Amino acid sequence: APEEDLNDRKVLITAGGTMEALDPVRYLGNHSSGKMGYALARIAQARGADVTLISAPTTLNDPKGVKKIEVRTAAEMEEMVLKYKAEQDIIIMAAAVADYRPKDYSDNKIKKESGDLVIRLERTEDILAKLGKDKDNQILVGFAAESDNLVENAKDKLARKNADLIVANDITSADTGFAADNNKVIIISKDREVDIPKASKLEVAKQIIDQICEMILNN
Ligand code: PMT
Repeated sequence: APEEDLNDRKVLITAGGTMEALDPVRYLGNHSSGKMGYALARIAQARGADVTLISAPTTLNDPKGVKKIEVRTAAEMEEMVLKYKAEQDIIIMAAAVADYRPKDYSDNKIKKESGDLVIRLERTEDILAKLGKDKDNQILVGFAAESDNLVENAKDKLARKNADLIVANDITSADTGFAADNNKVIIISKDREVDIPKASKLEVAKQIIDQICEMILNN
């Protein structure tokens, strides 16, 4: 039955937007609400999976029956993903992870002065790419939040990060993507593209899980 097609499967899902502190007061963040990742966690759990949800800060309720681990920064998310990855059958990276963090954290609140303030940023680790490098026998799913050349950029990420699926997310419309209740995506694998028209994030999550299950069946 489709309600149980993930029975005994272990699924790791990341969600939310990481926060990179500048000083005790300020951080660099993004507009991810966690809704897409939490919807995936709910659907996977409902279909029988043993779900671990690694979540950056959100205002959402914990999905029932899911093991939730709270993190804040890209580095903390990386640490937890690496800790739990080996045992997973499926890993879905829906989080919006910072690509850069402030190079120097200021222990004291940065004082306001006249003129511009320059903040130096350093690169964070690309967690998805790292997982792709030494992929065990598991299905690796990434997202691609793009404002232009959606399919082309997503295909590039599929290859570069050695993922099995990339969910290409057009973020140019206000009623889908970041923080919205609905989403509109294209699910891309090596040999096909599946268009998911605008629907609730729960429905989109169901479609993504369907594609993953099909991949498992065809393996
Ligand atoms: O949380 P919501 O408000 O519901 O919004 C959902 C969403 C728009 C955040 C989600 O659908 C989405 O697109 N998530 C990915 C956002 C993103 O950061 O995309 P990216 O193209 O920058 O990253 C590509 C992939 O690499 C992603 O799977 C990301 O998790 C991963 N990544 C990125 C940077 C990094 N340092 N490490 C990573 O693992």
